[in-house]
Amino acid sequence: MELVVLENGREVSRYAARIVAQQLLINPKTVLGLATGSTPEGMYSKLVRIFNEDLITFEEATSFNLDEYVGLPKDHPQSYFRFMKENLLDHVNFKEGANHMPNGLAENLEEECVNYEKMITSHGGIDLQVLGIGRNAHIGFNEPGTEFVAETHVVDLTESTLDANARFFTSIEEVPKKAISMGIKTIMQARKILLLVIGGSKADALVKTLEGTITIDYPSSVLKLHPQLTVVADKAAAAKLKKIK
Ligand code: F6R
Repeated sequence: MELVVLENGREVSRYAARIVAQQLLINPKTVLGLATGSTPEGMYSKLVRIFNEDLITFEEATSFNLDEYVGLPKDHPQSYFRFMKENLLDHVNFKEGANHMPNGLAENLEEECVNYEKMITSHGGIDLQVLGIGRNAHIGFNEPGTEFVAETHVVDLTESTLDANARFFTSIEEVPKKAISMGIKTIMQARKILLLVIGGSKADALVKTLEGTITIDYPSSVLKLHPQLTVVADKAAAAKLKKIK
């Protein structure tokens, strides 16, 4: 595991964008695992800038997103599909059909999960998975208590996550109660993982991830077992880690 602690979120974003850019340069056919949320926003904007400088291309790359809400229309302002379009996909040159998201409107959600998993496998698996963490140490929408062997599945979101996501909706009642998420097994099968952690509200979750025992009560604690994990955190998020004090 490599832990990189930087001054602030801006620096985390810049560092993370360089790792993704490096990956694309080394392997233009990279299969990226992508996340949504506040954490990777800055990284996407830096990646768009690097792309606009003609330094990287996404032409041969593929992407799979971690998760999507169940029941939100694709064009809903808070759908993860829309987030990805606005933050990255509309601004770079992925080929049509190269970006995959779980379909939260599928008639048969269980079948959608199985197909999503198969699709990842048929692309040879994920080369580089970008992750954020929740305040309760969730990764993707794998909430505390999720078995590590889980593949892509339908999730009931916890109060803590509904609460955290309510800031994006007009009221907490509007936040979808279910999502489709890659499972922990799916995430752990990625060849490399890049975990980004920004802000003091994630400090406890980062301690649970890196210094606590490995337990399904803190899903991100499993990441310690990954052979190619890079954690990039800002000082505020790393403030409670014993190792760097
Ligand atoms: C997003 C995702 C979530 C977020 C986490 C942190 O695709 O899977 O696990 O990474 O909830 O969200 P932010 O970055 O908004 O604090």
